[in-house]
Amino acid sequence: MPSDSLESLQDLFTHELRDLYDAENQLVKALPAMSRAAQSPELKRAFDTPLRETKEQVRRIEQVFRGLGEKPSGKSCKAMQGLVAEAKELLEEDAEPAVLDAALIVAAQKVEHYEIAGYGSVCTFGRILGYDDAVETLKQTMDEEERTDELLTQIAMELNIEAETTEGSSQSDSSREMTDRPMTRTTVGSRGRSRTSSTSNRGGSSNRSSNRNGATKKQGSRRSSRARSTAQTR
Ligand SMILES: [Fe+2]
Repeated sequence: MPSDSLESLQDLFTHELRDLYDAENQLVKALPAMSRAAQSPELKRAFDTPLRETKEQVRRIEQVFRGLGEKPSGKSCKAMQGLVAEAKELLEEDAEPAVLDAALIVAAQKVEHYEIAGYGSVCTFGRILGYDDAVETLKQTMDEEERTDELLTQIAMELNIEAETTEGSSQSDSSREMTDRPMTRTTVGSRGRSRTSSTSNRGGSSNRSSNRNGATKKQGSRRSSRARSTAQTR
């Protein structure tokens, strides 16, 4: 049960800040695994920078709570638990490296969008409540989240093409044109490169495994298309 009740905008402000505090702390623990799983050095960097920033973001929320004379703890962010759990599931998949990278970007952007919604709201509440210093502090985090989201979109524009071509034969004319451009030179590994993470100990019968792998490949294609369409709309 949350320790705070929601009787005023002030209550909602601290409630949402506690949610973000727990979300950021969960991310500090989850990001190293995502970075290790990323095949592209560029994507690894895109996870490592937010990890450093996230630790600072935790500190900023603590600073805001000190200013309010309250404690930041007391709430667990179930949404982030779910997003992190889904990201962890991806790491268990028997995925092509480039498709896995595309999937990790989707997972990371879901996280970023959750955080952007949260920080956008607390900045609005803080402004209405007259907490100008807190808003200034939280706005720094908001800017970092938006920069990370934009960077992930840029990386997705390159890596999703690679993810599509790892499926082999069905490269479209438009994607072929794009891969000819210098900016789309792939930075992830070539087709068939094996993942460094272990592929042993996957449970289930071989039949189930091959069914699952088939499904994974199809989902990978869908994921990359979806991530690309995100990129195109930004
Ligand atoms: Fe964050």
